[in-house]
Amino acid sequence: MKTPWWQSAVIYQIYPRSFQDSNHDGIGDIQGIISHLDYLKKLGIDAIWLSPVYASPNDDNGYDISDYENIMSEFGTMADMNALIAAAQERNIRIIMDLVLNHTSDEHAWFMESRKSLDNPYRDFYIWRNSTNNTVPNSLQSTFGGSAWTFDPQTNQYYLHLFSQKQPDLNWENYSVRQKIYKMIKFWINKGVGGFRLDVIDLIGKIPDDEITDNGPKLHDYLQEMNQATFANHDLMTVGETWGATPEIAKLYTNPDRHELSMVFQFEHISLDQEDGKDKWFYTPLDISKLKSVMTKWQTNLNRDDGWNSLFWNNHDLPRIVSRWGDDSKYRIISAKMLAILLHMMKGTPYIYQGEEIGLTNTPVNNIAALRDIESLNYYHSALKNGLSVDTVLNQINHKGRDNARRPMPWRNSTNGGFTDGSPWIDLNEKYPEINVAAALHDPNNVFYTYQKLITLRHNNPIVIYGDFDLVETAEEVFAYYRHYEGITWLIVTNFSGQPQLFTSNDHIEKVLITNYESPTSLRQLYLKPYEAFVVQITHK
Ligand code: GLC
Ligand code: CA
Repeated sequence: MKTPWWQSAVIYQIYPRSFQDSNHDGIGDIQGIISHLDYLKKLGIDAIWLSPVYASPNDDNGYDISDYENIMSEFGTMADMNALIAAAQERNIRIIMDLVLNHTSDEHAWFMESRKSLDNPYRDFYIWRNSTNNTVPNSLQSTFGGSAWTFDPQTNQYYLHLFSQKQPDLNWENYSVRQKIYKMIKFWINKGVGGFRLDVIDLIGKIPDDEITDNGPKLHDYLQEMNQATFANHDLMTVGETWGATPEIAKLYTNPDRHELSMVFQFEHISLDQEDGKDKWFYTPLDISKLKSVMTKWQTNLNRDDGWNSLFWNNHDLPRIVSRWGDDSKYRIISAKMLAILLHMMKGTPYIYQGEEIGLTNTPVNNIAALRDIESLNYYHSALKNGLSVDTVLNQINHKGRDNARRPMPWRNSTNGGFTDGSPWIDLNEKYPEINVAAALHDPNNVFYTYQKLITLRHNNPIVIYGDFDLVETAEEVFAYYRHYEGITWLIVTNFSGQPQLFTSNDHIEKVLITNYESPTSLRQLYLKPYEAFVVQITHK
């Protein structure tokens, strides 16, 4: 079986608004990205997933698209975009575009037409319903709070939006909607992009009248139709954002025989620190044994011929992993390396989110004036209305809010971390004098070089890509596993805690591949230091 490039690739996610400003307006842009391609090349990544750069009124920072075939003016022009694709190509880096296909902006031409009249040719591009008993059609809720239905007085009907009021859901049952979307995808394929990340793709098969949103009955038919009309016969990778995926569902998307997607983002592991039955704001400490069992389930259930998974701790919607499950003060560097080693030695395609590679931390705030994210702001107001205290809500947002990931990239210890010489659209993490790229590159012990080495290990060792996974029985706070491939065995040992932990094994160390302390010499009666992590090639005794 020929290896598709994306099975051995490591992908870096850029949130363009917060990466690098090149023209003093305080907003990251495409020229800013181009100026850092050599940095990314040094890190060693194969592709960049760009969060949306299309024309958008930015109600949800680009996830509300008003024109799929134009670039957001704040980010630059189509000429800049072409230049980025070309400059990346010169460095063997592919550009993965973010496709938001579940909804558009309410300022998209299709919606502006659709809302005009009941018999407008675009009416059926969106989901319109009459009121029920003088109120909303049903009880569907928006992810960003409140009803998913908004009344439009122009035609006296409600339209559906599973996200903000400015993100009306497209009606995928409409044939012309699908054809227009496929045509747009081909426009980007012809530009030479390397693939696509499909935003909340598991919602497109929804049946609003039955209040079915994710994993609707026609979801996979649509994906097969889309694949046939667009990706087929191109060397592209596609990754679907699928909050509701189990390993069985992931196989429906990614079994190569089904011709849908290359891989999925599943969220089971990353949702473990929320209270049962509650939403993400209700934090509960991570149960490490649950993390081990969920990750093991995903590692052992998908095999190359029936599916493929991604590996990630972070993205633009999630808090910073070193603050979340590591220790962002005393053991910041060590625990960030442990988390990197644990994840990157697993099977799947790893994603690194900007700043993760230098161990960037969350940015707690004590006033909502410091926040920009629509989800956090909406939640704040509704939670206060529901009687939660300001302290409680800010604490929740500081743990889980999306702006933690969206602070500008700190490049060096100068004004605004070198992100902008204007006034940044959102403040930087105030630790930028200490945590920044220039400082990281200067220090051979920085997290950056651990990521760089992990990428090289993956590129040079098929065991990392294809090896079988086997969890090792250990103390609860120790997460250890084997990879086996063609007679070779690697053992990955990590201490997922700030206390020493005992690890014992009869295995014999043949060579040490990577560590975050000094190299272990024997595995017998080993006292792991706080957040210690290493990878060794072993022979079983
Ligand atoms: C996805 C994106 C998120 C966005 C939402 C609506 O979850 O990752 O940032 O707000 O979809 O498009
Ligand atoms: Ca700018």
